[in-house]
Amino acid sequence: MSANAPVRPTLPVDILARKGGKSLVCLTAYTTPVARLVDPHCDVVLVGDSVGMVLHGLPSTLGVTMEMMILHGQAVMRGNAQAMAVIDMPFGSYEESPQQAFRNASRLMAETGAPAVKLEGGVHMHDTIAFLTARGVPVMAHIGLTPQSVNTLGGYKVVGRDADAARVMADAEAVQAAGAFSVVLEKTPEGLSSRITQTLTIPTIGIGAGVHCDGQILVIDDMLGLFTDFRPKFVKRYANLGETASEAIADYAAEVRARSFPGPEHSFADVLPAKGTNK
Ligand code: KIV
Repeated sequence: MSANAPVRPTLPVDILARKGGKSLVCLTAYTTPVARLVDPHCDVVLVGDSVGMVLHGLPSTLGVTMEMMILHGQAVMRGNAQAMAVIDMPFGSYEESPQQAFRNASRLMAETGAPAVKLEGGVHMHDTIAFLTARGVPVMAHIGLTPQSVNTLGGYKVVGRDADAARVMADAEAVQAAGAFSVVLEKTPEGLSSRITQTLTIPTIGIGAGVHCDGQILVIDDMLGLFTDFRPKFVKRYANLGETASEAIADYAAEVRARSFPGPEHSFADVLPAKGTNK
C-alpha cells in the first residue's frame, strides 16, 4: 500500500482471509481516546460487554444493556480508522429467538456503525447465527468460557477439559457451519484450542486458549493494569497504568494541600488598568 493510500476499515471478509496467516491482533476498547490508541496496532477492536465490569463496576457482564453497548460502540467508532470493529450483544438481547437477535444486532450496527457483532454460544446458537448471517449481520462467535453463562457454568473456570472437549469442538463446528466469520475461544486448554484451530476454516481468536489460535485478544484495562479487581492467569500486564495514575493523583493531592499547585505558570495575570484611566 502506498503511504498516501486512504485507510479503509478492515471487514469481516478480510479477517476470514487471514485464517492460518499472520496472527490476528485484537483488543477491546470502550471509549474514543482508547480506540484511537488501539486502532493503528490492531486488526480487530472489540467493544466488549466486559465494559460493564471494567468501566461501570458491575459484578459480571449480566447487567450490561443495549443502551450501554450503543453508547460505547458510538464512542469507539469515533476513534476507529482501520481496525475491524465488533460489538458485543449483551445478555438478554439475542437468546430468545433469531428474530429478537436480528432486531438487536441490526440496531447495534445501525446506531454505532460497527460492521459486525459478537454473541456467546455454540450448538444452541447455530440457528440464530445462521439467521443473522443470512440477513447481512456478520457474526463473531464466542465459545468455551462464555461469561454471560457464569451462573450456569458455576464460575469462570477452564472449559473443555476431559469429557467436555468434544462438546467444545461440536460448538466450534456448529458456529462455523452457521456462517460465523471467526470464533473467540475463551479459557480452553491449549491442546483443544490447537485442534479446533486446525479443524476450522474460520479464524480462532484466543483469550486464555494458548498460542496456537489464529489470533489473540485481551481486555485493554487488564493488559494496561487499569482493572485490578482480579487477574486471570491468561492476562499479561504490559503496563501498570493504575499504579502510575494513583501516584499522579497522590502528587496532585499533596501539592494542592501544600498550596504549591497551581503555580504562576498555571495561573492568569490580572489586567491592570492603564495609568490615569482609573476614575
Ligand atoms: O467482553 C469482552 O471483552 C470479551 C472478550 C474477553 C473476548 O468478550
